[in-house]
Amino acid sequence: MARDWATLPKVELHLHLEGAAPPEFIRALAAEKGLNLGHIFAADGSYDWADFSEFLAVYEVATSVLQTPEDYTRLSEAVLRARAAEGVIYTEIFLAPQLCAADGSAWADVFAAIREGAARVPGIEARFIPIAVRHMGPDDALRVARIVADTPGASGFGLAGDERQYDVDAFAPAFALAREAGLGLTAHAGEICGPESVRATLDALSPARIGHGIAAARDPALMARLAEEGVVLEVCPGSNIALALCGSWAEHPVAALDRAGVGVTLSTDDPPYFHTSLAQEYAALNEAFGWSRKTFTRLNRLAMRAAFCDDATRTRML
Ligand code: HPA
Ligand code: ZN
Repeated sequence: MARDWATLPKVELHLHLEGAAPPEFIRALAAEKGLNLGHIFAADGSYDWADFSEFLAVYEVATSVLQTPEDYTRLSEAVLRARAAEGVIYTEIFLAPQLCAADGSAWADVFAAIREGAARVPGIEARFIPIAVRHMGPDDALRVARIVADTPGASGFGLAGDERQYDVDAFAPAFALAREAGLGLTAHAGEICGPESVRATLDALSPARIGHGIAAARDPALMARLAEEGVVLEVCPGSNIALALCGSWAEHPVAALDRAGVGVTLSTDDPPYFHTSLAQEYAALNEAFGWSRKTFTRLNRLAMRAAFCDDATRTRML
């Protein structure tokens, strides 16, 4: 069934590079390096985690295997090939300098290596959005924003990680610096926390997009604000369901958000962790809400309008 949707050209704005690493890729790299990762894999070989905190912990252990620029070239090429094979024509990729280049001096080399891997893949256009990991704190986020602003090649700047940690206001200096550098801004909010987190994020950071934002569906005034201000949500239904933030596809708020006039776009977040792909998401949404090619094409056009790219790319894509 997922195969039907692979032929539809798709746009994905919320995909974490490290989170898109297949477990086999991480296992093979660990074996090459003689690294023992402990217990991050289940008996069937998939990533093993039980809740949001464990997901973040396993994610960081798996990512620790990626150590050289060459590792990252291989990863970005593999990730982009997998997306292109399921019909993604444009994607924006999050990556965490704090995880892939803890020593900031390595960032330029690692980032160049990632872009080189992506450039090897035909049929898909990629842009890159380095993110600060929220639970690593606001001071480090400011350091990351500075590194990102000083290194050419990024299209945006974002905030991900554990939304429960730190007051979002503390990240305002990092976002101000990124805005000043001309980067598109997006922040994860309203994923694990409630509508107040989305509201505080809008007030503190004024991002053009919110990662997830699904909690806004519980607050009609907030939905009206998002619609009015044109802030677009990067919704990842399969991720939300896998993390038990939402009971089922039929109960997922993406359809209610769309009906309320909020700009929604569709992504997978960390596909191997959540056993999903964008084509599978479309199949499940088709089944849950009867969403057709017409609906998906409308959402993909909206995604390109919200993309952090130039107008020529925007019109070339869809
Ligand atoms: N939420 C927060 N941080 C993340 C995620 C997510 O879904 N994926 C990778 N980092
Ligand atoms: Zn995410």
